[in-house]
Amino acid sequence: MTWYKVTEEGKLKDGDIFKAKVGETEFILMNVSGKYYATSHLCTHEDYDLSEGFVDNGTLICPNHFATFDPKDGSVLSPPEGAGDISPLKSFPVKVENGSVMVEV
Ligand code: FES
Repeated sequence: MTWYKVTEEGKLKDGDIFKAKVGETEFILMNVSGKYYATSHLCTHEDYDLSEGFVDNGTLICPNHFATFDPKDGSVLSPPEGAGDISPLKSFPVKVENGSVMVEV
C-alpha cells in the first residue's frame, strides 16, 4: 500500500465526488462536510459508477436504485428496496498533508 496525491485541498467542494485511478485501482474521493473519504467506485448492487452518485447528509447515494453507503467506511446503510443484502464498498485511508489530499492504495 502506498500513499498517492489525488488532489489538492480545497479543489473538491462539500458534496463533490471525484473519480481517480492509481494503477489498476479506481476509486472515488468525496468531500463530506470538509472531510475526505475514499471508497471503491462501483456500486455493489449492479456496478453502477458511483462517481455519478451524490452525497447528501453525510450519505453516499447510488442514483441507479438508491442504495446508500457510509462514505467513512463503505458500509451499506440501506440496500435498494427489495434487493436483499449487498456488500459494502472497499474503503481506502485518506489523509491531508501540506495541502495535498492523499489516498493509500
Ligand atoms: S446499481 Fe446502485 S443501487 Fe442498483
